[in-house]
Order: sequence, then structure tokens, then C-alpha cells
Amino acid sequence: MSGSAVPVQRPADTPGAMAEHTVVVAAASRHGSTRQVTRRLAAVLTADLSDRWTVREADLSDLRVLEGADAVVLGSAIYMGHWLRAATQALHQVKDAPLLDLWLFSTGPVSGDAVENAAVITADKSVESGCATEHMVFAGSLDTSTLRWWERLVVNIVKAVPGDRRDWTLIDAWGHSIAAQLTHAVAKQEPDA
Ligand SMILES: Cc1cc2nc3c(=O)[nH]c(=O)nc-3n(C[C@H](O)[C@H](O)[C@H](O)COP(=O)(O)O)c2cc1C
Repeated sequence: MSGSAVPVQRPADTPGAMAEHTVVVAAASRHGSTRQVTRRLAAVLTADLSDRWTVREADLSDLRVLEGADAVVLGSAIYMGHWLRAATQALHQVKDAPLLDLWLFSTGPVSGDAVENAAVITADKSVESGCATEHMVFAGSLDTSTLRWWERLVVNIVKAVPGDRRDWTLIDAWGHSIAAQLTHAVAKQEPDA
């Protein structure tokens, strides 16, 4: 398989099943916590969507994972105010594609303090310009034991608080909302299907 796309398995993905639409859930992650968010979102979409959908969960080491997608859920961890490069490149690739819909998410804030992130502003602009449907910012997870020395230095300087602040209830709710919107969009496109 090219890149590291993982089709989420379900009975409908077995030979003979007729998936007609593909939604790709992909994110750039440096320490793995954002990747866990994509896995969770993919699991929710798989549970909610009909067997006409293939849900493909992927990292962004190879942007070909985005090829053939009818809809994309794209995210990135925020580092030093910005999305990781792979996610920025992926956004550039998909923002003008004739998708059913594009959802964006950022993971980052690890304290209660409001942080001004260029990544958030950029993603919000994609929504404002109509390229993306919605942009969500999820609290992130900071495990200082996995950081490189210079990352620890940055974390100390900005006084980021270690801990896992991901809100799985919020993440699940967003997944359910995306599934509902996709189902509605397809029903509108194919009223007699
Ligand atoms: C060196 C470093 C810089 C960070 N910079 C930001 C930042 O500018 N804004 C922010 O909201 N979060 C920042 N964070 C928090 C991360 O975005 C958060 O820990 C995220 O969940 C990490 O995702 P990952 O495990 O997928 O790499 C930073 C974390 C580290 C270690």
C-alpha cells in the first residue's frame, strides 16, 4: 500500500461490498497524539456511515493518500504557531479539489491560556473563503518525556503545561456531525438512491 493509509475494516469492506464514496481522515502529527485523534474520528465515521462509504485513515507521509477522496477530514498538530508542513501541503492540494466537503482540525492548546496560532488563523481563512466547511481546534496532549531537548526548551519558555487535554467527547461529537453532513450531502446529490 502506498503511503500509510489504513482502510478502516468493517464487513462492507470485504470483497463484494459496494462502497461508492471515500472519506479520508488524515493528519500530521509529530508525537502521535493527533494521529490518535484521526483514528478516533475514522472509527466514528465507520460506525455512522452506511456501507456505501469507505473510510480511509492515514498519516500524511505520502500525499497520494488523498487521491480519489470524495471528502477529506484534514488536521495537524500546531507547533510554534503553525501547522506541520505535510498538513499545509495537503491543504494546498485539496482546497481546490472538487470534494463533497473538507473539514479541518488543529490540535494544540495545552493550557487554558488563549494562544494566537497562525495555523488556526490560516485554517479559519479556508473556511471563510469557502474552501472548507468547518475548522475545529481541539486541546492537545503534551508528554514531556517524549520530547527532544529543544522541544523541552520551547515548552519551558512558553510555560506549556504537560498533560493530555484531548476531549474525546467533543472529538466524537464532531465525528458524528461530519457523518451526518456527509450522509445528507449524498442524499441531496442522489435523491433517488
Ligand atoms: C515544541 C512544541 C511547540 C508547541 N507549540 C505550540 C503552539 O505554538 N501552539 C499550540 O497551541 N500548541 C503548541 N504545542 C502543543 C502541541 O501542539 C500539542 O502537544 C499537540 O497535541 C501535539 O500533537 P502530536 O502529539 O500529534 O505531535 C507545542 C508543543 C511542543 C512540544
